[in-house]
Amino acid sequence: MTKPRKLYVKSYGCQMNVYDSHRMADTLAPEGFIETATPDDADLVILNTCNIREKAADKVYSELGRIRVLKDEAAREGRRVTVAVAGCVAQAEGEEIIRRAPAVDIVIGTQGYHRLPEMLRRAERGEIQRKQIDTEFPVEDKFEHLAAPSRAAMRKRGVSAFIAVQEGCDKFCTFCVVPYTRGAEVSRPVASIVAEAERLADAGVREITLIGQNVNAYHGDGADGRPFTLGRLLHRLAEIPGVARLRYSTSHPRDMVRDSDDSLIAAHRDLPALMPQLHLPVQSGSDRMLEAMNRRHTRADYMRIVERLRQVRPDIAFSSDFIVGFPGETDDDFNDTLRLIDDVGYAAAYSFKYSPRPGTPAAEMAQLPEAVKDERLQRLQRLIERRQADFMDRCVGLTFDVLFERPGRHPGQIVGRSPYLQPVPVVGPSSLIGEIAPVTITEVRTNSLFGVLVHEPGRAAGSLAEAIGA
Ligand code: SAH
Ligand code: SF4
Ligand code: F3S
Repeated sequence: MTKPRKLYVKSYGCQMNVYDSHRMADTLAPEGFIETATPDDADLVILNTCNIREKAADKVYSELGRIRVLKDEAAREGRRVTVAVAGCVAQAEGEEIIRRAPAVDIVIGTQGYHRLPEMLRRAERGEIQRKQIDTEFPVEDKFEHLAAPSRAAMRKRGVSAFIAVQEGCDKFCTFCVVPYTRGAEVSRPVASIVAEAERLADAGVREITLIGQNVNAYHGDGADGRPFTLGRLLHRLAEIPGVARLRYSTSHPRDMVRDSDDSLIAAHRDLPALMPQLHLPVQSGSDRMLEAMNRRHTRADYMRIVERLRQVRPDIAFSSDFIVGFPGETDDDFNDTLRLIDDVGYAAAYSFKYSPRPGTPAAEMAQLPEAVKDERLQRLQRLIERRQADFMDRCVGLTFDVLFERPGRHPGQIVGRSPYLQPVPVVGPSSLIGEIAPVTITEVRTNSLFGVLVHEPGRAAGSLAEAIGA
C-alpha cells in the first residue's frame, strides 16, 4: 500500500474539461492520490487548461507563476511537488509552456490522460531528463482507458453527473480552436455509456447530462448493428432505474436533425425524463456572419428548429452562446443578433467578445476595434439580462418538479434545480436531497427561484407551457 499523496486538479474550461478532471483524479486514485481543495499542500498539481479565448489561455501562465512559488517553498522543506499541465493549451502549445514555465514537469494533451500514472512514475524516478511532453495520441477512445470513479467519488460529486458520449469536432467554425485541440469527432460505444450510467445511477445519481463538443453529432455503435443517434441513446438511458432526468450539451443547430433522422426532436416529445431545456448556440443572428463563421446554417434554419422543438415540447426553454465583434460585423449584423434574441426569447445566454485564436482562419481576417467590441458586448449583455429576468419572473406562481442537490446556506434550507437549471432554495428536510419534489415558486431573488414544497403533488401543467412558451 503506497502512502496517500495529495492531488490538486483545477479545471479552466467547458463541461468536457471538468469531466476530464474528474476522470484524471479517478485514474490517479489507485496510485494513492486523494484530492485536496488547494494547491498549498498538494504533491501533484494538475492544471486542466482551456484555450477557447485568449484570456482563458493567459490564466494558465499567471497560475503557473503562483505554483512556482509554492513549488520552491516546498523544495526548501524537502518536499517534492510535481506540476502537470493538461487540457487544450497543453495540446495547442506544449513546447511553449515548457519554455515559458520552468516549474512544469509534465505536459499532457487532451487524448492522453490514461497515460498520466506512467508519465508521473517516470518523472518521479527522474528517468527522463528533458521535461515530459506527450500530446501526440491517436484519437482513439481515451475514455475506455481511464479508470471509473469509485463509489465514494461518485457520491461526493452529487446527484447530477456528466457522461462524455463523444469528443472532438469536425465543424471547423472559423473562430474556434476545438477541432485542433480536441481532434476529429469520435463517438463512444453505446455499451460503455450505458455501463457508466448504470454505475452512476447505482451510486445515487438522478440526473445525467450527456456531454460532448458536438453532442448531437453522436453516432455510436449499438450491439444490434443499428447505429445509435443521440435520440436513440437518450431512450436507452431513460430505461435505467433511478435515472430521472436527462440533458445533453452542447449541440450544433445543424445536427438537431441528422440525415433526415428526427429522433432527437421526437425524444423531446416522447421522453418525460428529457428536460425541457436546450443549449443551442447560434453565435450570431446575421446570415452574413453565420456564413463567415462557417456555421453552415441560416438564421431561418435555426428559427425552424426552435419552432419544431416548441411544437413538440411547448414548455421548452432555450439558451445560447453569442460572439460579438467577429471580423466584418457591421451595426446591421449586430442588430440582427439583438433581434434574434427577442425572436427566440432565450431563458439564458452566454456572450463573448470575439478573440482571435492562432491558427484559426478568422484570426487572419481584418479585426474590429476593441472599443466597438466592448460597446456591442455591453448592449448584448444588457438585453440578455433583461430577457433572463423576464423568464425568471414568468416562473413565479408555477409549480415545478425540483431535484434537490444539497443543503442550503441557511439552517433548514435545501437547494435543488428546476427543469430549467435555475437554483431553487426551499425550507425542507435534508432527506429530500437526491429526490424530486414539486415546488411552487414564490419569489425571484439573486438569480434563484425561491419556493415552497407542495405537499399534495398536483401540477399546473397547462400554465407552465403558456408561461414559458414564447
Ligand atoms: N461546440 C459548441 C461550442 C464550444 S466553445 C458549439 O458549437 O456551439 C463555447 C463557446 O465559446 C462557443 O459557443 C462560442 O460562443 C465561444 N467561442 C469559441 N471560440 C471563440 C473565440 N475565438 N472568441 C470568442 N468566443 C469564442
Ligand atoms: Fe467549435 Fe464550431 Fe466545433 Fe462548436 S461546432 S466546437 S464552435 S468548431
Ligand atoms: Fe476550452 Fe478546450 Fe473546452 S478550449 S472550452 S477546454 S474543449
